[in-house]
Amino acid sequence: MEAHQSVSKAMDILGLGQEFLRKIPVNECFQIELGALRAAIAEDRTSGFAPFCVVGTIGTVNTGAIDNLRELAAVCREEDLWFHIDGAFGALAVLSNELRSRVDGIELADSLAFDFHKWMHVQYDAGCILVRNGQKHRNAFSMRAPYLHGAARGLAGGGEWPCDLGPELSRGFRALKVWFALKEHGTERLGSAISMNCRQAAYLAECVKLTPNLELLSTPSLNIVCFRFHPGSWSGASLDELNQNIIVELQLSGIAVPSAAWIKGVLAIRVNITNHRSRYEDFDLLVNSVLEIGLKITGSSGS
Ligand SMILES: Cc1ncc(COP(=O)(O)O)c(C=O)c1O
Repeated sequence: MEAHQSVSKAMDILGLGQEFLRKIPVNECFQIELGALRAAIAEDRTSGFAPFCVVGTIGTVNTGAIDNLRELAAVCREEDLWFHIDGAFGALAVLSNELRSRVDGIELADSLAFDFHKWMHVQYDAGCILVRNGQKHRNAFSMRAPYLHGAARGLAGGGEWPCDLGPELSRGFRALKVWFALKEHGTERLGSAISMNCRQAAYLAECVKLTPNLELLSTPSLNIVCFRFHPGSWSGASLDELNQNIIVELQLSGIAVPSAAWIKGVLAIRVNITNHRSRYEDFDLLVNSVLEIGLKITGSSGS
């Protein structure tokens, strides 16, 4: 249920249709319910369908949750299913000594997608997919018309061509900017910046917990904190609208640029901390600003 919409889109692009995507319920920590997953696989098989792939996430878009990767891999092995991990955001946590254990099981994926343009700060766009079985990968994309025939030497020399590994023939040299980022910053410094963002998320979550009129809506697994302004007398749609207005005021004031997320049916102020320049005092300012704007809109002095 928490997977990114790109998975639904992929089902459509593949010609299978998103109506055949099974969205599996999640537990309290926003991770795929393993029992529900097993039940869905069994139910599909009984109905004559042929499940073929399970998609787990490292760093869900709403809360940054990380699925139980080892358990998902075990289900896939038992059921003979392809295990894909969408690590668009969170996969790069492997660069952090502090966080690496949280993405334990990442190495069990049959394929892993992640973005250099997210937590590695490479200019848009620089997505990446790794496929464990090189032969299967090539079989999916390699198609050499006569004018693409290779040669031992010369212009058409070289063993594997990029067009053997993806849908594009002409393509940009995205790898160059990734290489530069790695050369300039190094994996250690990038990993430290990622660790710091997650410590800041934990700090913000603590501040929210300690602040009257604020309610923490998701405990950070990585770098995302979801919370809301919640004066005692407000509830339902008007409380959601109040928080939406706070988000917009924060954005327009230039103080911070949180987004909105729906967490268990309520609208949350979603703070996704990715900037290597963020400082702890920025989060004090954010908390104070949410309170200030919230109290101004509600015209009260809080509960
Ligand atoms: C978990 C997750 N998957 C997929 C995507 C899509 O990535 P992109 O925008 O690079 O296509 C994102 C972010 O946008 C994401 O957070």
